[in-house]
Amino acid sequence: SDSGSDSTETATEAATTESIVPSNVVIGSDIPYRPFEYETTSGELTGFDVDIAEAVFEEQLGVSYEFKSTSFDSIIPSLNNNNFRIIMSAMTINDERAEQVDFSDPYFTAYQTVIVRDDGEITSKEDLRGRAVGVQKGTTGAGAAEELQEEFDGELDIKSYDQIPGAFQALNNGQVDAVINDNTVNAEFANDNDDVVFLEGEGAAAEGDGDAPPYLTLTVENYGIAFRQDDDEFRERVNEALAAIREDGTYDEIYSEYFSG
Ligand code: ARG
Repeated sequence: SDSGSDSTETATEAATTESIVPSNVVIGSDIPYRPFEYETTSGELTGFDVDIAEAVFEEQLGVSYEFKSTSFDSIIPSLNNNNFRIIMSAMTINDERAEQVDFSDPYFTAYQTVIVRDDGEITSKEDLRGRAVGVQKGTTGAGAAEELQEEFDGELDIKSYDQIPGAFQALNNGQVDAVINDNTVNAEFANDNDDVVFLEGEGAAAEGDGDAPPYLTLTVENYGIAFRQDDDEFRERVNEALAAIREDGTYDEIYSEYFSG
């Protein structure tokens, strides 16, 4: 763009640009993804991301927000088609995505992990060779499964599901032998299902994070809020708000509500 020395032109440009902080922030998200975004039995939207959105937008920036359910696999093109203003969807920051969106500062650390049925059939990573694993389409879990498939010279059957409950159900039904997905989301499912356990082993650990989780980790990842690449000023305001809720204890309060350990 030019330097804007013509004041008329500058004013027109400002009028057609989205406001820096919208009065209502529409958030694209793939729901359900418990404990980050899901509905309670009474149909109320809740979760870690939802509470962070409340703290950032309502409490810090003084605006309203609303979640819009969207398929995870197409969530980035959907953002860039202006279907919502930002993405909050337990979304991992990575280089491939950063070519299409800009991320906020990281707000959560996660790991790719493997859950299996607790029948002693699969007790190590190597036991997954030749088996079927379920993943959610378009996720970093799907990416981790592809890497494992390469490591096994193709001897891994990857079954993709549009949403994570589909993969979990397939594990219960025996249609897949394992699910590769974010640790805290797998943990919720394993907690609810006595016969589902984490595959044990060591793996990636977060830097400076002390202890790695007590089970096999395939990757370490950070979640970020995604913005269109022309939305720098809003992204800056959100980063400031994220820093403020870490500073004043709100972040820790929300964190301990969902993650006790
Ligand atoms: N963290 C993973 C990723 O970014 C999975 C996110 C899935 N999120 C969701 N709301 N379904 O690929």
